[in-house]
Amino acid sequence: MSAEVSFVTKLLQSSMLWPAVMLCVLLLGLFLWFRRLAAALNGELQKEDLSAGVRFDLEQARSTAIATRQTCKFFFWAVLIGFLTYIAVAGTPMYGYTMEWINLAVRWTHVIAGIMWIGASFYFIFLENNLNRTHGLRDELAGNLWAIHGGGFYYVEKYKVAPKVIPAHLHWFKYEAYFTWLSGFALLFIVYYADARSFMIDPTVADLSPAASVGIGIGSLILGYVIYDRMCSSKLILDQGRFALVGMVVLGAMTYALTHLLSGRAAFIHVGAVIGTIMVGNVFFTIIPSQKALVRAAKTGQPLDETLGKKAGQRSLHNNYLTLPVVFIMISNHFPSTFGHSWNWLILMVMVVSSAGIKHYWNLLDRGLKRTWVLVVSILALVFMSVAISPAFEDSLDAAIPATFEEANAVIQARCVQCHSANPTDDQWPNAPNGVMYDTPEQIKAMADKIMTRAVRTKTMPQGNKTGMTDEERTILKRWILQGAKIQ
Ligand code: HEC
Repeated sequence: MSAEVSFVTKLLQSSMLWPAVMLCVLLLGLFLWFRRLAAALNGELQKEDLSAGVRFDLEQARSTAIATRQTCKFFFWAVLIGFLTYIAVAGTPMYGYTMEWINLAVRWTHVIAGIMWIGASFYFIFLENNLNRTHGLRDELAGNLWAIHGGGFYYVEKYKVAPKVIPAHLHWFKYEAYFTWLSGFALLFIVYYADARSFMIDPTVADLSPAASVGIGIGSLILGYVIYDRMCSSKLILDQGRFALVGMVVLGAMTYALTHLLSGRAAFIHVGAVIGTIMVGNVFFTIIPSQKALVRAAKTGQPLDETLGKKAGQRSLHNNYLTLPVVFIMISNHFPSTFGHSWNWLILMVMVVSSAGIKHYWNLLDRGLKRTWVLVVSILALVFMSVAISPAFEDSLDAAIPATFEEANAVIQARCVQCHSANPTDDQWPNAPNGVMYDTPEQIKAMADKIMTRAVRTKTMPQGNKTGMTDEERTILKRWILQGAKIQ
């Protein structure tokens, strides 16, 4: 009978009903309000006697109001349809399947928006580095470039400051970045927060509640951006090298904290989301506002504030260096040997620093500076790390770090004999399972290979980890066995 609970009953009983209704009402209210605002601004703009500055400000305000109105409309429908779908499928066999398709659609959007964003970013950095800045340029130009692509010839000119007349149709690159962030944030909910217990939390790392893990996840995004933004407005920004160094130390500290609070996989994706949020924040809070101020000054004939362009340029450069690291982190969940390793935070930092190094080499090369050593050092760092975390290398280290029988035996007496003994104390196993007992040194030595398989490699013993064995204890057993399982 319970499978046939009607849609309306499920709707009314859902704990998400009121949050969803309130969110929809809020979005609808905002939509109506921004619609009126846009109409009012439009009315203002019809007036003939507006000064250039006022006209520009009104136009900007109108386009922001229209964009916000559209966004509210989009999210209103997304929340409404999403919630009703959720109610329809929750508790039915269709739930997992539906979630998979929602995941697919949003992930697809995210990747496409990300390609468009990073592609444009790469293209403009390429332009900047490859412009002809010397031959036959008009006075007002900083450089130009001829290119052939897709069977057409293209000619691009960059102005030193701004053209005398700002063209009516000026293309802005911003929605790629915004959609990347919005779809990425939605994915965090769909993939991680919807099932926080499985994907956010690893009880052997920290036994958090789902709400706490989600709070830490979202909090890290805000904290990351705030720290970065403070750094940019401090004196640190004057010294690129030191800025990069401090930035890496801060990111390292956040990575360390996240990997000690969340599951390895969730920690990685949140470091990626922190970096992604910083990058989109740069576009939203600095680059686009600076560009608006530049266009406004050009349109109203006021002197251009050069620091604005410089600030936007700095942030844009930071974004450029973060592209390779963020792309690795976004695909990192396919690589358990990185996020699943006990040194996962260090591995991530090596990946971030060396991929930023590769980007650095590449940027220098575009400018005609061939610094091969930067590339070699970056790649070697990755190669050395991959060797250092390989199971074979770890084993050879463990074989060299002494572990006595007394230490190994202490572990077995603490974690195994509850079941594997002539007199088990476990409530479930009154007799030693499979007749396997660890009461004497000889019994233990005889089982060394199987202990290695079950308690070290596959971690399938103790059964259900009922006796709470730690990774350190497994390492002690491993070292003792690799050193020949001697009982003297
Ligand atoms: C809560 C009870 C329990 C504890 C504690 C426990 N085991 Fe077991 N163990 C079992 C049971 C039940 C089996 C048989 C089922 C199986 O193989 O999974 C078993 C099987 C094994 C086997 C396979 C024996 C064979 O014949 O192939 C090995 C090896 C083993 N355990 C090692 C250990 C080690 C080492 C520890 C301590 C680190 C340990 N177990 C702790 C319950 C336990």
